[in-house]
Amino acid sequence: MVNTILVTGGAGFIGANFVLDWLAPSNPDACPVVNLDALTYAGNLASLEPVARDPRHRFVHGDINDRALVSRLLREHRVGAIVNFAAESHVDRSILGPDAFVQTNIVGTFNLIEAAREWLSTLGATDRAAFRFIQVSTDEVFGALEPDDPPFSETTPFSPRSPYSASKASADHLVQAAWHTYGLPAIITHCSNNYGPLQFPEKLVPLMIRNARRGERLPVYGDGRQVRDWLHVSDHASALRAVLARGRPGQTYNIGGSAERENLSVVNLLCSLLDELSPRADGASYAAQIAYVTDRPGHDRRYAIDQRKIAAELGWEPAVAFEQGLRDTVDWYLGNDAWIAGIETGAYRQWLDTNYRSGERAR
Ligand code: NAD
Ligand code: DAU
Repeated sequence: MVNTILVTGGAGFIGANFVLDWLAPSNPDACPVVNLDALTYAGNLASLEPVARDPRHRFVHGDINDRALVSRLLREHRVGAIVNFAAESHVDRSILGPDAFVQTNIVGTFNLIEAAREWLSTLGATDRAAFRFIQVSTDEVFGALEPDDPPFSETTPFSPRSPYSASKASADHLVQAAWHTYGLPAIITHCSNNYGPLQFPEKLVPLMIRNARRGERLPVYGDGRQVRDWLHVSDHASALRAVLARGRPGQTYNIGGSAERENLSVVNLLCSLLDELSPRADGASYAAQIAYVTDRPGHDRRYAIDQRKIAAELGWEPAVAFEQGLRDTVDWYLGNDAWIAGIETGAYRQWLDTNYRSGERAR
């Protein structure tokens, strides 16, 4: 009888929110979680503090590329599902240094597939059929939309345009191949932009909150008219629970927030929330700190998600409205200075210098 889930990348933004949600007091019957994370710059054990002493949570510091380790964890804990969050996830970093994206996102996922296949070969037919391999992917694999294009559906052809999205698309192909060729009971999800607590402050929302409060410029790429669909991370966690419980092996599901917004409008909304919740000492709006900087190379203009399939098949819909979710998120960052301070390491400062203060983007 298998009874544990293996979460990879569970010290990152979405993985940690998923683990906290899985083990929340409202879910007393949750099965145990083995949380395998390499603790790269984006992994943060402080995010897992609420479950640090929960006997149902076992943190393992390690790499998804370590086949022997993954195989041992699957065997020892009799794992019944893998939820793969582990990845290099930041597009700008993939442009400046794609190697790690290939290694973790493609080779690492392949390694998990192979370890899962080996583990499944030791199980009886019932446990094998009940096993799930959930590949947490992104809407970016579909490429970019024009303003009047219909949103991405599950049948939209892949057209990745950054090293990050190409690496995620490659991994998705490997997962699909494992389902078709070997019958690995895999499901792939394609989610839009997440926001919420515990997000590393390299991504748009937490970066803008951080910079605003430090009196630094708010760097808007290009004209700021690019469109993203925004989903609160708690809704992503609930979608993945639905996929685990009721998703059909071999299928893919798009997950979105029905909240398409231009970047500039997100930044302006953040500024007005901060003006209200933590006004500047001089009384001016944080919007005065907005600075247009050189665009991201190959910047995708628009993403949008058609999520009728997950709604119809699994009965999932997002619960958090964008404006309320963003307000709660600003509130969370204002109340959690210590969490941000804890990750302001030398390495993170160096990234800010590399991406924003030297070379092209420093206009
Ligand atoms: P993140 O960068 O915050 O966290 C990634 C985690 O993976 C970190 O804890 C890191 O230490 C860990 N990790 C990296 N390489 C590893 C390795 N080789 N072995 C083990 N652990 C490793 O990322 P996130 O924003 O939480 O995204 C999680 C997943 O969701 C990713 O696969 C990403 O592609 C996908 N996704 C993200 C978003 C988003 O808006 N952030 C949207 C859709 C899909
Ligand atoms: O769509 C899902 C994807 O969303 C995930 O797969 C990725 O892991 C996640 O990082 C995110 O990718 P984006 O590139 O959309 O997120 P990011 O927060 O980096 O940027 C959001 C938008 O804001 C994008 O159009 C670029 C722009 N931007 C970003 C930063 C960091 C700026 O204008 N200025 C900035 O400083």
